[in-house]
Amino acid sequence: MMDLVELTIDDTQVKAEPGTKILKAALDAGIYIPNLCYISEADLPFGACRLCYVEVEGRGLVTSCTQPVEDGMVVHTKTPEVNKLRRTAFKLFIAYHDLDCRACWKNKRCELQRLAARVKVKLKTPEDFRGLPTDFIPLDTTNPFITYDPNRCILCGKCVWVCNKKSGQPIIDFAYRGYETRLALSSDISLIKEKCSSCGECVITCPTAALKPESSLGSTVSLAGGG
Ligand code: FES
Repeated sequence: MMDLVELTIDDTQVKAEPGTKILKAALDAGIYIPNLCYISEADLPFGACRLCYVEVEGRGLVTSCTQPVEDGMVVHTKTPEVNKLRRTAFKLFIAYHDLDCRACWKNKRCELQRLAARVKVKLKTPEDFRGLPTDFIPLDTTNPFITYDPNRCILCGKCVWVCNKKSGQPIIDFAYRGYETRLALSSDISLIKEKCSSCGECVITCPTAALKPESSLGSTVSLAGGG
């Protein structure tokens, strides 16, 4: 049997298999670390959201979803510096997000709302950030299965990741640059027929209300798992 690695997370002794990432070891031990772009240990972490920062003694700040456990490692998940960085990372998500939650079809099932409470940030446009463009961007309805609302997209990339993994060729991908960055959904019917299994994983994985199934998918996609 494989020797387990022993480490300390917030004064709790934790054991994990070698190679396990700190985030997974912590969650398995019942220690919550905020995270958003993490999907599972089997999926490559892309370390994009920066919410899962922790402090490792002798090493400093690391993203816990990408950092493997080591014997004797001492991890702190809630130092003032960690909390500050985490809040800044979260504010970046909401700085450019439509925050009219009461008008949102995913209100109370949204992962951003859940995380806001966890990281103790109010869901309102951050005052300590430079103003960002807030013009309404038209919905993308070109795909027959999914409607994309760029105003509610936080560009976390989870849908791109799961789509790529499932289809081998992303039917959803990033497009444009800078403030203009958003998702582009393929409207190429032959590509969709060939590659898209209408699994609905992209919708389920989306932490916000950016992706919505059209009626053709609605019966097969359980939105309850989405946030
Ligand atoms: S969960 Fe680690 S960077 Fe997003």
